[in-house]
Amino acid sequence: MRPKIYITRKIPDEALALLKQECEINMWDEEETPVPREILKKEVENIDGLFCMLTDQIDQEIMEQAPRLKVISNMAVGYNNIDVADATEKGVMVTNTPGVLTDTTADLTFALLMSAGRRLMEASDYLRSGKWQSWSPMQLTGQDIHGSVLGIIGMGRIGQAVAKRANGFNMNVIYYNRSRKPDQEQRLGLIYRDLEQLLHESDYVVVLTPYNEETHHLIGEREIDMMKSTAVLINTSRGSIIDEQALYEALNDNKIWAAGLDVFEKEPIGLDNPLLSLSNVVTLPHIGSASIKTRTKMAKLAAKDLLKGLNEEKPVHLVNV
Ligand code: DGY
Repeated sequence: MRPKIYITRKIPDEALALLKQECEINMWDEEETPVPREILKKEVENIDGLFCMLTDQIDQEIMEQAPRLKVISNMAVGYNNIDVADATEKGVMVTNTPGVLTDTTADLTFALLMSAGRRLMEASDYLRSGKWQSWSPMQLTGQDIHGSVLGIIGMGRIGQAVAKRANGFNMNVIYYNRSRKPDQEQRLGLIYRDLEQLLHESDYVVVLTPYNEETHHLIGEREIDMMKSTAVLINTSRGSIIDEQALYEALNDNKIWAAGLDVFEKEPIGLDNPLLSLSNVVTLPHIGSASIKTRTKMAKLAAKDLLKGLNEEKPVHLVNV
């Protein structure tokens, strides 16, 4: 009997074709809207495998509806949307998609850093709204990127790829991580700092640590107060690592210079989110890994690991061994 799987969103054809070779598939065939929870609860009842997204909360309630479930394959490197402890207890494998999105996400992180520091969105709006009357000496001046200090919080794959880009821009890179990375210090010329020192010294602070209970609101009012008034804060990891209300207040009071955010505490953010009223914030709709090549690679990787798990083989990117 072919295993039954459920796919919670329309995925690239190449990944779907891989899965079709071996599985019976039901899929929520939508690009934009996530599968409603009530439908998901019904769909998982008889499945062996689940192919899901970071927008799906896969918790105890969902897993209890799926007694046959063997593998959950998350099409993302982050897997904070899945109750991994519960899956482990139930003997359900959980997989993610690290590696293939590293450079694409680092590119976007750097683009966001440059946009926020050099006020690109504000400048573009300025021109389009007809405010550009003339060139003037201090018009739309921002913060330099070259020669500045970049503080990276979380020195995993993406942190390292951002550091590599920063080297090309002659930035001085410091980092904070749970454990020191002597090899990367050597390879990328990084200097280790504790979190407080990093916040004090950095011109740009980039958040790239995974989200979990320990990193919830890692950057709050106290931490933002430690930053320079000219500092720029970038987040391309998960929104809840930063206390959004504290960030809004700091930006509104010009306690820091700017922020670049690809992720938010609640996604999608409401149009009434006060951050959207500020000109010193660049906001993106969680597109860190959004290149055609990378999203296709992520979907194929998730598909291959789902198939491995269903075939009683060890998935390559198993997060709960
Ligand atoms: C991830 O993979 O966790 C990103 O946030 C989406 O690419």
